[in-house]
Amino acid sequence: MKISTNINKDVEFVLIDNKSLNKRIKELGKEITKDYKGKNPVLLCLLKGSLHFMTKLAENITLPIEYECLKASSYANTVSTGKVSVLVNMLNSIKDKDVIIIEDIVDTGHTMKNILAILEKEGARSIEIATLLNKQARREVEGINPKYVGFEIPDYFVIGFGLDYNEFYRNLPYIGVLKEEVYKNNEQ
Ligand code: PRP
Repeated sequence: MKISTNINKDVEFVLIDNKSLNKRIKELGKEITKDYKGKNPVLLCLLKGSLHFMTKLAENITLPIEYECLKASSYANTVSTGKVSVLVNMLNSIKDKDVIIIEDIVDTGHTMKNILAILEKEGARSIEIATLLNKQARREVEGINPKYVGFEIPDYFVIGFGLDYNEFYRNLPYIGVLKEEVYKNNEQ
């Protein structure tokens, strides 16, 4: 993997700039605040990609909310393996709670399907999905319909604002498309 010393140089183009991200996340925060009025939802952050979205979204919700985190992983390089394992489970009881799963991207939907199965067993009162990015065109699992979607995006390999390629690029403040030369000799 050839990574530049300035990670911005590995970006083919910016798909969603920081201003647009913040504007849209603010709108989603308002919508959630309105929809959950009188409730204390739990924001469940799916690590690590959702860290940026989670904190920005939470800042824009004025309700009393709780944070939970879960680590699931399914990817080797840019190709989805379809296999999802829960690696770190820091979940306190979500029984009878209104849970909002916070995801950076829903792609094939395999991760979300597995997470939903886990959460349903835990007896949550309600479960909704908030995803910053949605790649509807790549969906392999039916019935995964996030209620809160930041942006619908085409099938680009995107990085930044939490999203990685082999663990790098998460700290870009925007969503960018990775240059092919960075990953072309690195696929499994
Ligand atoms: C990414 C992303 C989603 C999932 C989406 O996570 O954060 O959780 O893949 O893909 P899917 O819809 O095809 O299942 P990843 O496993 O790369 O972990 P990360 O959040 O730590 O980067």
